[in-house]
This record gives sequence, structure tokens and C-alpha cells, in this order.
Amino acid sequence: MAALPDEQRKALIQAAFEGKSEFSYSPYSKFRVGAALLASDGTIVKGANIENASYGGTICAERTAIVKSASEGNRSFAALAVVTDVKSAISPCGLCRQVIREFCAQDMPILLVPADYPINQDSGDAGKGSVKQTSIGELLPDSFGPEDLELPRGTI
Ligand code: THU
Repeated sequence: MAALPDEQRKALIQAAFEGKSEFSYSPYSKFRVGAALLASDGTIVKGANIENASYGGTICAERTAIVKSASEGNRSFAALAVVTDVKSAISPCGLCRQVIREFCAQDMPILLVPADYPINQDSGDAGKGSVKQTSIGELLPDSFGPEDLELPRGTI
């Protein structure tokens, strides 16, 4: 798995918390989600879940962050963090996994952060163990991606 320096890791987790608490629009589910994307140029982009009265129109925090960044031309990413109000690591939904797969390397760090992660304690790695670090290669194995569209095809 690709390594992420501690400073960037901390900043990314902090940004995911901010995305959740400042921007989550979740009046229907009352399930707040925040995401933060670290772009390869060092930029951090926050995302939050944005719900809709027509429930299917809801956009998850992860996709909000990815689309915000990609639509500004920045689509090279180094890490993603996700946090909810649940005190255990919550994993991206299936739809978000496919969108992450489009833009992120198989081994790019994805940090699943528990709600009680002690972000404000200046005690080094406190709570670090409870963050689940994974990757899209792990979350979506044997996936379909852009490369598959380049494969030779039989005649039709
Ligand atoms: N949600 C996310 O933002 N990310 C996920 O990966 C899972 C679900 C949101 C969508 C909806 O606003 C709420 O959580 C409940 O499903």
C-alpha cells in the first residue's frame, strides 16, 4: 500500500471531519458523511453527502469530493479519507467504489475514520490504530475500469 506522510494524513483526516460537520446536507437520513481527497499537487478537496427530496438524487461525500476536483481539472489523487458519525470505520458504497476506481490507483490509501478519532488531541499517533487503511484494489477487486475499454474486441 502506498505510504502517506503523517502530516498529510492528519490534515486529510481533519478535512474529512470538516466536510462532515460543515457541509453535510443530510436532512433525510440524518447520516452525515465527510470525505477529503488529497490531490497529487497537495491540494485537499472536501466533500460531504448532499441529499435530495427525491432520494435517488443523493450524492455521497466521496463522489462529491471527486467530482468537485475533477470538474476543476484536478483528477490525479494521492489519498482519500472518509468519516461518518459512526464510531467504527464505514466503508464507501458500491457506486462510490466504481467512481473511485476511475480516478485512483489500485493501491492509493483510503482512510476510513471512526467518528471518535481523537483529531484534536496533539498526541502524535493517538487513535491511529482505529483508522482503517484500505485501497480501491481491496475494496473493489476484479473491477472494470478505463483500461478495459482499450482491450481488443471481437468482430460484431
Ligand atoms: N453515504 C455517503 O455519503 N457515502 C457512502 O459511502 C455511503 C453513504 C451517504 C448517502 C446518504 O446521504 C447517507 O449516507 C445514507 O445513505
